[in-house]
Amino acid sequence: MKTEVLKIENPAQFTELDMEHIRKAASVIRSGGLVAFPTETVYGLGANALDEHAAGKIYEAKGRPSDNPLIAHVSCLQEIEALVRRIPEKGRILAEAFWPGPMTLIFPKSERVPYGTTGGLDTVAVRMPSEATAAELIRLSGVPIAAPSANTSGRPSPTRAEHVFQDMNGKIDMILDGGPVGIGVESTIVDVTEEVPVLLRPGAITMEMLTAVVGEVRVDPAILGPMSPDIRPKAPGMKYRHYAPRADLTLVEGELSQVILEINRMAQEKTEAGYRVGIICTDETRGCYPLGEVRSIGERAREETVAHNLYGVLRDFDDLGVDCIFSESFSEHHLGQAIMNRLSKAAGYHIQRV
Ligand code: TXA
Ligand code: MG
Repeated sequence: MKTEVLKIENPAQFTELDMEHIRKAASVIRSGGLVAFPTETVYGLGANALDEHAAGKIYEAKGRPSDNPLIAHVSCLQEIEALVRRIPEKGRILAEAFWPGPMTLIFPKSERVPYGTTGGLDTVAVRMPSEATAAELIRLSGVPIAAPSANTSGRPSPTRAEHVFQDMNGKIDMILDGGPVGIGVESTIVDVTEEVPVLLRPGAITMEMLTAVVGEVRVDPAILGPMSPDIRPKAPGMKYRHYAPRADLTLVEGELSQVILEINRMAQEKTEAGYRVGIICTDETRGCYPLGEVRSIGERAREETVAHNLYGVLRDFDDLGVDCIFSESFSEHHLGQAIMNRLSKAAGYHIQRV
């Protein structure tokens, strides 16, 4: 299959050519094909959410286990009605506060949503993205769009069209290239089917922001650490080792000056043993590492820059072909919770405390 790449020049104000490209993409979605498109979080791989056969193609292109459900993306609140059996009160409050935006809500599903989209679950994940290209694509398609991140299963999520091309060239119909995404980590997922909402995946809508609006929010244990085999995460996707770089990644936690010393010590040990070493640092500490391939992930003082660069840096290390990576770690507050969740998973929870 030839994968067509169409550029969106100006998402702030679409040109006539941009509109032509989005209309073309919408017709691919309507006819049961696959289109990758930018959202504010990461690139998504879209298909008609109401068409089980089309949704099935997503699993095939990604190599994704079929019990891992997809998020249905909508462009306005009205489109949700067909997808859900009811909208619980706290879901309504969260939707009003944070949609359109980087948050996904879990609702009881309606009969119209095929089990092929929800991985056999009686609930459905719904998100209303704020990114203009995504919103326009959904609106013109006239159907909700099921879209996981547009990476091969097990690779870091794509934050640029080039990442999508690396993973999906030849496997999907089209890529809408809207440039680098804004946020860089996937949406916050909140299950609102129970009385107390449950955070299933941290993201740019932080725990602090959620509780400020709905009061108590519980945290699914799958977010906090490695899964013991007897716990079933509520978001089936959280049980897979996502975001895995090819090299062995170790997170080093503790007081920053000690972290730097420890990373340098391990880098030296590994280099002497003949391994190629990568180091993930921050703009503030870039000058502190004399050995190895050193990449800054962003400014420690501005965590949104860290989220923005996270997956790109992991992909760069894949391309460099290093054997092991040592990374600084971050506070677990605000956006740091999402950053540490993704980094710890990428590290297979291999965390060294100093
Ligand atoms: O930011 C995002 O959410 C991106 C963009 C493209 O919108 N999408 C994304 O999709 O990250 P994906 O498929 O990579 O992650 C979806 C997660 C998985 O962990 C899945 O298990 C969970 O959502 N999920 C989907 N439906 C669910 C449901 N009914 N109940 C619980 N978890 C669900
Ligand atoms: Mg994903």
